[in-house]
Amino acid sequence: MKTRALTADVQIPFVGFGTYLITDADAAPAVSAAIGAGYRHIDTAEWYRNEVGVGAGIRQALAAEGLTRGDLFVTTKLWPGNSAWGQTPKTTESTIAALNDSLARLELDFVDLYLIHAPFDPDQRLAQWRGLVELQQQGKTRTIGVSNFSIKHIEALKAAGLPVPAANQIELHPWSQKPTLVQYLNDQGITPIAYSSLVPLSTWRASPGQESAKTAHMRAEGERADAPFKVMAEKYGVGEAQVLLRWALQKGFPVLPKSLQVERMRTNIDLFGFAIDADDMAAIEAMDRGDGVAWSVGDPTKAQ
Ligand SMILES: NC(=O)c1ccc[n+]([C@@H]2O[C@H](COP(=O)([O-])OP(=O)(O)OC[C@H]3O[C@@H](n4cnc5c(N)ncnc54)[C@H](OP(=O)(O)O)[C@@H]3O)[C@@H](O)[C@H]2O)c1
Repeated sequence: MKTRALTADVQIPFVGFGTYLITDADAAPAVSAAIGAGYRHIDTAEWYRNEVGVGAGIRQALAAEGLTRGDLFVTTKLWPGNSAWGQTPKTTESTIAALNDSLARLELDFVDLYLIHAPFDPDQRLAQWRGLVELQQQGKTRTIGVSNFSIKHIEALKAAGLPVPAANQIELHPWSQKPTLVQYLNDQGITPIAYSSLVPLSTWRASPGQESAKTAHMRAEGERADAPFKVMAEKYGVGEAQVLLRWALQKGFPVLPKSLQVERMRTNIDLFGFAIDADDMAAIEAMDRGDGVAWSVGDPTKAQ
């Protein structure tokens, strides 16, 4: 599996397995199947309520595949608490407790990357980041980063004299390319990790109850026979999902495709046998529409 340097010592595999909207019960077989299909990078979060299943899937697969913990890259995320949703924002102390709880559910001694899930609370954001810095010093996580942070949110960490995050996990796909933020991240040596890469597909979160801000009109666009990613998929002899994921890789972004279907798991990791040409990369660049749609409440990089 190809990797990108996250820090001087830690490499992140370009393709990870996403687990949002996978139940705790489904997580063990799904994660185990994903590792069996070749994934070496798993993305979960306290908020997904599936860390027990993810950890069980990891243990099953390590035994079945003859792998060791060091062969895998595991990410989980701090749920920072959002006072606007009636939640108590986490402090430095409760942040430290939260990773210890996540590790207990995962039955792991450490994760490879720990992220603040979103920049919800302006008053506790620095305190939470201090918690991540301490957790890294304790060896509970090899690297630390953020998710859904804007330039302003990251600049506030720097202004407080705190370390710069190793990564910012954000919604990135042809309809939400965030060029200014991506340029800033690359300039700062912060790896942009792409989530919800498959948003333009008609099959993206198509099951009932999988809320997002994607409209029925957007969904219908993906169903058209002349949908641009259908046309490109035919040209390259691959699936539409592979075109979307390959676009991210060519931009340098690690990706986190989620699927419960083993055949899709296999094709979503099969991205290194073709390349999108310069004309198609330019055509995709012109498809940017601004904000993302993965969060039903709006793009969280816009948080104050
Ligand atoms: N940090 C954050 O705030 C944040 C937010 C969102 C996501 N994430 C992370 O990023 C991961 C990926 O994002 P995501 O789950 O939003 O979406 P995604 O991986 O872009 O797309 C998943 C959706 O596409 C379908 N799909 C997957 N492979 C396909 C294929 N080859 N052909 C057609 N349809 C396919 C899946 O259905 P089936 O399962 O039925 O195949 C599912 O509905 C998450 O699981 C999570 O780990 C992070």
